[in-house]
Amino acid sequence: MKKILITGAAGFIGFFLSKKLLQDGFEVVGIDNLNDYYDPALKQSRLVEIPAGSAYTFEKTDLADRAAMAALFSKHKFDTVMNLAAQAGVRYSLTNPNAYADSNLIGFVNILEGCRHSGVEHLVFASSSSVYGGNTTMPFSVHDNVDHPVSLYAATKKSNELMAHAYSHLYGLKTTGLRFFTVYGPWGRPDMAYFLFTKAILAGEPINIFNNGEMKRDFTYIDDIVEGVARVINSPPEPSPDWDKKNPDPATSWAPYRIYNIGNNQVETLMHFIEVLEDCLGKKAKKIYLPMQDGDVAATYANVDDLVCNFDFKPSTSIETGLENFVKWYQGYYR
Ligand SMILES: NC(=O)c1ccc[n+]([C@@H]2O[C@H](COP(=O)([O-])OP(=O)(O)OC[C@H]3O[C@@H](n4cnc5c(N)ncnc54)[C@H](O)[C@@H]3O)[C@@H](O)[C@H]2O)c1
Repeated sequence: MKKILITGAAGFIGFFLSKKLLQDGFEVVGIDNLNDYYDPALKQSRLVEIPAGSAYTFEKTDLADRAAMAALFSKHKFDTVMNLAAQAGVRYSLTNPNAYADSNLIGFVNILEGCRHSGVEHLVFASSSSVYGGNTTMPFSVHDNVDHPVSLYAATKKSNELMAHAYSHLYGLKTTGLRFFTVYGPWGRPDMAYFLFTKAILAGEPINIFNNGEMKRDFTYIDDIVEGVARVINSPPEPSPDWDKKNPDPATSWAPYRIYNIGNNQVETLMHFIEVLEDCLGKKAKKIYLPMQDGDVAATYANVDDLVCNFDFKPSTSIETGLENFVKWYQGYYR
């Protein structure tokens, strides 16, 4: 039985991935600091949903606590590590930069050190579509350069990719970075637009629509993310011996390192997304149109050719199905 550490296990994606990997026969150790960036009661409720049993243990631990992380890695012998714990959110990084430095930079070094010293076979880590920053070539390709982030959040995610590469080169640690594109679904994140919209529409309150609605997103349903991650976890990257140093490909390396996009490969306008949500809720939104927010990007769109080629998997859930599932869960959970 393979043993995996999932960080951010009480978070949205960590919760679903823990359930999936338990079903797939992994022994899962979940950690999370249960911070109050959004309602910790939702994090606790997710943990309660995970069937208790010998294959799952949860520990409240902070990624940035160097001693606690070192103790965790020496107590368990992990085959694989999935790092999902992070300070997420673009807008929050404008006002709370230190939270990103602590969790996403210091915390990530603790993960790398733990993997290095305990012989972990494969480190998979969450990156983000936000690393594409100022890029405008669509769909976003992992083979394009992403050196122009427009938020500190994005800069920390790009930093994770760079740090992981250094450890792949220096210590042969196999690392895979996954750039997730706007993940949504039941048990989702209350800070994200679809969640805020739902809450406001049901309460008869107005919703804030940034960039006057001129936004496009590649919305990716949680089940597709989890399926993609599970496939990647089981297949550590190999070095690419013919990697060309004179024409460097950012997504591969002479070291055992890979970057993939996981997105729906389907661009939706924000206004259409809101219409579908209104249909699911049976209620129209009161809309307030506002300018673009600092740190945000107008459009995201994932090229997933490498995911399809290497893992024979392409996300496919439509927003009609995904939002219907979300709304059903929301109405049940919040009664
Ligand atoms: N949801 C998305 O649309 C999306 C898109 C791109 C990337 N990502 C990335 O995917 C990962 C998971 O995202 P999510 O949507 O599940 O977010 P989430 O906030 O629901 O989950 C992250 C979890 O990590 C925990 N955490 C944060 N800092 C920690 C620390 N220092 N120590 C221990 N635990 C800590 C939080 O308490 C939370 O439960 C994150 O790295 C995020 O940046 C998410």
